[in-house]
Amino acid sequence: MRKNIVSDAIETLCDVCTELCEKRFLHKIVLSKPLISDEIKSVVSLKLISGASVIQVETYSTDNKVYHQNVKNDIRPFFRDLFYRYNQINVMSSVGDCQYMMSKKGKETMIGCHKIQNGLKNGRGQEVQLQKNNKTKNYILLGGEDFLKKLGVSDDSGRVRDRMQSKFRQINKFLEYVDSIVDKLPEDNINIYDLCCGKSYLSFAVYHYFRYYKKKNIKMVCIDLKADVIEYCSNLAVRMGFDGMEFICMDINEYDMVNKPDLVVSLHACDIATDIVLNKASENGAKVILSTPCCHHELNHKINCQPLSFITDHSMLRQKLCDAATDALRILKLESEGYEATAMELIDPEDTPKNIIIKAIKKANPSHEKMVMLREKYLYTRKFLLGE
Ligand SMILES: C[S@@+](CC[C@H](N)C(=O)[O-])C[C@H]1O[C@@H](n2cnc3c(N)ncnc32)[C@H](O)[C@@H]1O
Repeated sequence: MRKNIVSDAIETLCDVCTELCEKRFLHKIVLSKPLISDEIKSVVSLKLISGASVIQVETYSTDNKVYHQNVKNDIRPFFRDLFYRYNQINVMSSVGDCQYMMSKKGKETMIGCHKIQNGLKNGRGQEVQLQKNNKTKNYILLGGEDFLKKLGVSDDSGRVRDRMQSKFRQINKFLEYVDSIVDKLPEDNINIYDLCCGKSYLSFAVYHYFRYYKKKNIKMVCIDLKADVIEYCSNLAVRMGFDGMEFICMDINEYDMVNKPDLVVSLHACDIATDIVLNKASENGAKVILSTPCCHHELNHKINCQPLSFITDHSMLRQKLCDAATDALRILKLESEGYEATAMELIDPEDTPKNIIIKAIKKANPSHEKMVMLREKYLYTRKFLLGE
């Protein structure tokens, strides 16, 4: 706590936030710019635990850990203790949002608090739907990592910018999938490719994960058609000291993989670019492929399947069918090439409709007979859908 200081603004904020919690109007409080150097930020939200509303605080520390604390009683003193530890506090509620800031020179500003106070007085606000406590939450990135700041995902205090929240969740969740397959990769000197890397949020995250989280040596090649982003990312990698990270501006179709890939990742490679990614990875014998497809157009344009016309006659359902069929065909093809492949959900579907991740792991001794059978099934299914 700041020594010998009582701030009227913080005291008011404590009152307001206590009332927002009691009325269940609070969405979230994000506290950043901490006074304590081993903390990055804290996030307060209401959770449903054993049927009761509980205030949950997640404190992100510089040792890459997240500490949870649940508070049921004595809310105001608890907020008082917490709020005085931070220089920036953002409150989001169903009554409105407000922001408190303390400058380096000690000047305080508060925006939006009166509006919430008036709203509470006039009976505005709606109870928020409380989320169940998710005990298995496992963050790999916390938001304060330097590369996230440099890429504009987080601000200087390590707070993930509002417009980047979804991308942050995507790459964090993607890393959880990477984490789940680490034992399928070589112990060290791992060759990784990010195909259709774009601005390379995922590439930097994967590099960070292996190099600093797992302490492994990796070679990472990231490829995209866009010259400007490749140049930007290449310079950023040099500035960050991310050795072994290479950016190439090229059509992935034309690229010959120099090193045999251990892991190929790809996030939202548009339309058939995902098929090129999967083919390239499989042809080169990648041990693991993790790919989140993007929009699907090709099958939607080409489908010609009378038995499914009761679905394809309705454009919205036709798109959903083609999305599912495209990814299912991709999986079937990978299986026919000796992979154990599956599709899973990447993040909360409300975040993005492009939410499937294809995970494929090369089998050690795939049965040739089974592969031939799966290839026939793949070709038959394609013909069935395309009316050939
Ligand atoms: C939707 S963006 C996704 C970028 C990045 N992976 C992300 O999630 O932020 C798709 C990217 O694929 C790239 N792309 C599409 N087809 C490509 C191809 N044949 N070769 C290389 N890059 C390609 C585009 O230039 C674009 O940057």
